[in-house]
Amino acid sequence: MWEYTDKVKDHFLNPRNVGEVENADGVGEVGSLACGDALRLTFKLDENKRIKEAKFKTFGCASAIASSSALTEIVKGMTLEEAEKVTNQDIAGYLGGLPEEKMHCSVMGREALEAAIANYRGEEQKKQEFEIVCKCFGITDKEIERAIRENNLTTREQVTHYTKAGGGCQACHPKIEAILEKVWGREKKPAAPVPPPGRKLTNLQKIRLVEETLQREIIPPMRADGGDLELVDIDGNTVYVALRGTCSFCPSSEFTLKKYVESKLREFVGPDIVVKEVKP
Ligand code: FES
Repeated sequence: MWEYTDKVKDHFLNPRNVGEVENADGVGEVGSLACGDALRLTFKLDENKRIKEAKFKTFGCASAIASSSALTEIVKGMTLEEAEKVTNQDIAGYLGGLPEEKMHCSVMGREALEAAIANYRGEEQKKQEFEIVCKCFGITDKEIERAIRENNLTTREQVTHYTKAGGGCQACHPKIEAILEKVWGREKKPAAPVPPPGRKLTNLQKIRLVEETLQREIIPPMRADGGDLELVDIDGNTVYVALRGTCSFCPSSEFTLKKYVESKLREFVGPDIVVKEVKP
């Protein structure tokens, strides 16, 4: 379990500024529900062009909610020029720190703020100009490079903690290593093998592929958010699983099973897979 500061717990249990600003001047959305974290930030300016109101809607873990709450408190009263200087470390610092494995929540807050300011200014989000390095989480090379530079990250594991990139199928690990090498000028390492494509399956192959997909695609991002999943049984195309950790009492567990676990298994194992939860 993660060690949270009292301030993180307070902002998780009593989040400030939850909801959506009416007739918002700026709207920023980052993350995705399938990846376990998503944040929608809205703000309104006063007559002096200072942020009068900022609200958030977050789908995610305790630190994602606390980081969003902290962000809205930090930026209130700021001009946009001041707000765009807010870093993920400012958000984590406001909360008295976050576990390293949860720093991606503070990065998500900073990204939502940037997206909302860009939206106010009528600027296009230019993600397509960059390369999507981590397809599991939609993270670009520029986002990874920025997180490395701003937070002095030196290992791939740290990059995953701060951006989530690399926390799924792991196919992007060589590219993350290459970005680390580019930033810090280290030697290149050989590329990891790519998983084999899907094929017509025997029962035994199906069981193995379900297990591989769970370990490679599904369980690592859940563990990054304090949750876990256990394979209980497979009967034909029905996969029985038990949710563990924070997932076991999460109100969105049904959504996670259908929209995340089942859709990943359908993508990597077969379109007829159905996932059912086994309750303790
Ligand atoms: S592509 Fe990055 S974890 Fe899958």
